[in-house]
Amino acid sequence: MTYLQCSARHCGATFDAHDRVLACPRCGDLLEVVVELAGFEPADLKRIWRERRGSWESRDASGVWRFREVLPAYDSEIVTLGEGNVPLVQGRKAARWAGVRHLQFKHLGWNPTGSFKDLGMTAGMTEARFLGARTVACASTGNTAAALAAYASRGGMLARVYLPAGQASANKLAQALDYGAEVVQIAGSFDDALNQLLAAADPDLYFLNSINPFRIEGQKTAMFELMEQFEWRPPDVLVVPGGNLGNSSAFGKAFMEMKRFGLIERVPRMVIVQAEGANPLARLWRSQGKDLEAVLEPETVATAIRIGNPRSWRKALEAIEFTGGTVMDVTDEELGEAKEEIGRDGIGCEPASATTLAGIRKLVRAGELDSEATIAAVLTGHVLKDTDYIIKRRQRKETFEPLAVSL
Ligand code: F0G
Repeated sequence: MTYLQCSARHCGATFDAHDRVLACPRCGDLLEVVVELAGFEPADLKRIWRERRGSWESRDASGVWRFREVLPAYDSEIVTLGEGNVPLVQGRKAARWAGVRHLQFKHLGWNPTGSFKDLGMTAGMTEARFLGARTVACASTGNTAAALAAYASRGGMLARVYLPAGQASANKLAQALDYGAEVVQIAGSFDDALNQLLAAADPDLYFLNSINPFRIEGQKTAMFELMEQFEWRPPDVLVVPGGNLGNSSAFGKAFMEMKRFGLIERVPRMVIVQAEGANPLARLWRSQGKDLEAVLEPETVATAIRIGNPRSWRKALEAIEFTGGTVMDVTDEELGEAKEEIGRDGIGCEPASATTLAGIRKLVRAGELDSEATIAAVLTGHVLKDTDYIIKRRQRKETFEPLAVSL
């Protein structure tokens, strides 16, 4: 059985799985999907999920829907582009640079539209289609917009994306246009774009930002897949970038469920890394305060996470507390250097993703992370997501020389 529940523990109001409510009408907090797992032994689930990798049926071939026992169920068609099933790639030079020995990258940028957003979008768009939505919408720093646009077109729906004008990378804007979205440019930041979209309250729009609990369901499967790749023996530490904090919330939910269902015995310590100029959760964590104070003018070269008022901060904090983890920040220069190291490993990623490696190095140097620990770092976006950044950084370093070609 599946239903919606208010995520505020003091409220806990429940709603029908397909009620079209975005926030709890009683207390205003975010909702979450509750999936009750009936009558499965952990060993059977692990076997079923693995066997599906050999199947061509679209529900099995998707790295999200092959975990469908822990997702809302649909008889209707699912909207998929064959997302998920991304490999673990060992960080070699990157590990040496950061001062650790056992580092694996989970590259969620190797998804159909080049970011982890596809995992949540297949689930969110399937729900939108089930509800008969015609137009779907989101505010975005770029990646959600690209994923929304692609999956909406797949599902036969129109996409409208709100972007902070001049702040999303040209590559991401181009993707949204190419997949056929209507682009609304908003003066201000991502937070302003999200506020404007929410204020528009157009009943014909189906809203697909990560506060949509169905997106979280799809996104959480990345951690089921990661644990499968670790043969259900979790690494010591999991490192993720933090922006609007939907991803960390989804991962926290995944670990709570995997533990409850008996799929794993312990959970990795989750480390959320923010950019220093857009670090409201890291500030809250350091101050041990109770309420998040928004960063009013967030600023970082990692435009994907230039977010000052993350909506899912409470859920993300719960995830940190549940896993015994921590929250930190890194400077633009630190993430820039880390990005170059990830590139030198032949992997590459977009700037926001490199906060992970920068964070690992910083923790090791501070004596807060054992160099022998097993670490999984989540890379969230593809190297081609922000090509402008790469060229400009190289030009700034004045080491840009044309290749000498000898015949
Ligand atoms: N990394 C990348 C590449 C992202 O695009 C985002 C978020 C994050 C990390 C942070 O994830 O928000 O779940 O904490 N991008 C959103 C967007 C906000 O609109 O594309 P988060």
